[in-house]
Amino acid sequence: MARSSMKGAAGAEFLSRFSERHNAAEILTYLDNAQYLKVLVVGETIIDEYQYCEALGKSSKEATLALRRLSTEKFAGGIIAVANHVASHAGEVGLVTMLGEVDPQEDFIAGKLSEKIKPRFVYQSGAPTIVKRRFIDSSSFHKVLEIYEIETALAPEENDKLCGALSETLPEYDVVIAADYGHGMLRKEAIRLLCSQARFLAVNTQSNAENHGFHTISRYPRADLVCLTEREVRLEMRDRQSSLRDLVMEVAARIGGSRIAVTRGRKGCLCYGRGEGFWEIPAFTTQVVDRIGAGDAFLSLAALCAAQQAPMEVVGFAGNAAGAHAVKTVGHRQPAERGLLFRRIAELLRARGDGAASEEVQPLKSQGRKVALLEPAPNYQA
Ligand SMILES: Nc1ncnc2c1ncn2[C@@H]1O[C@H](COP(=O)(O)OP(=O)(O)OP(=O)(O)O)[C@@H](O)[C@H]1O
Ligand SMILES: [Mg+2]
Repeated sequence: MARSSMKGAAGAEFLSRFSERHNAAEILTYLDNAQYLKVLVVGETIIDEYQYCEALGKSSKEATLALRRLSTEKFAGGIIAVANHVASHAGEVGLVTMLGEVDPQEDFIAGKLSEKIKPRFVYQSGAPTIVKRRFIDSSSFHKVLEIYEIETALAPEENDKLCGALSETLPEYDVVIAADYGHGMLRKEAIRLLCSQARFLAVNTQSNAENHGFHTISRYPRADLVCLTEREVRLEMRDRQSSLRDLVMEVAARIGGSRIAVTRGRKGCLCYGRGEGFWEIPAFTTQVVDRIGAGDAFLSLAALCAAQQAPMEVVGFAGNAAGAHAVKTVGHRQPAERGLLFRRIAELLRARGDGAASEEVQPLKSQGRKVALLEPAPNYQA
């Protein structure tokens, strides 16, 4: 039963209170009506490569762990994972991304893209497509070591090509999702275009080992939905001590943002909406296989709901449902598809505090109405 995977009493109590305010049909309608959205996703392509190994023990000559490679599994990650999550729900999906000219892996990537996605690639000279190679102890799924193949930022003429591609595509879309991994694709000119031309802009500025401290949300002067981890919020504010809520208010003021979702791994998320206040939503699973891509799954679903003016509590709920799917999935084997999320959300909201079964929830058919998009943001002047 779904409730058994919720985090004990806290989860049951949350679901009980949540289901007094929202029901499954309401949330499922937001997912269903995403079919009316045209969504552009922008960010770096990342090949997540898993080298499954057997630990042999200590090397006889050095203080080194010796591993034997058993097999390799390759995933199309980064923005490709976001594009595939979004394509499971949205009507049309455009993709603007950066590949490396040296070893683009374009056939592999094209083979992993949902047919619904219209890709535009910008190439970085003298660089491979970004690869994050992880060596994994297959018996424990523990990641022993990561090696990244990453070059620095796009050259000026490549940046011009990217800006040209963005200028052409941005006006065609209702919603833009920027999953900015901070690996050199989105320089300030491209960010200025995103912030000035996107009708509804959702952004994550991912902090990771390669960009740590150089890549924070204040690079974006405007966003309609900001999704960050707690660590990314604290990094932006250079503050480890203050309460997260205070820091979120400061981030919102800094970028003029009215909606912020802070993901907190096994603690779920904290969501803020101007005029709504704060909502804390616990994580929806304790079964964690692999955390890679959880934030991307969260961002994808949260953006689709926020663009339709869903209350932030619902935005966080849908994001957590996608995050729960992602942590139960190895790498990017399966996107957070419509059917999977529909079942998950229906199960969660049936499993209310007293365990009483609510009415059967069926996936909703479109009711022939157009979605209510957020008002276009007041034109941001760069
Ligand atoms: N250990 C966990 N247990 C349960 N749910 C989790 C766990 N980790 C992540 N999630 C779910 O996924 C969401 C996003 O996860 P998280 O906060 O780890 O993002 P992230 O660090 O940006 O991930 P990424 O590796 O994709 O960058 C969380 O809000 C939660 O719903
Ligand atoms: Mg992240």
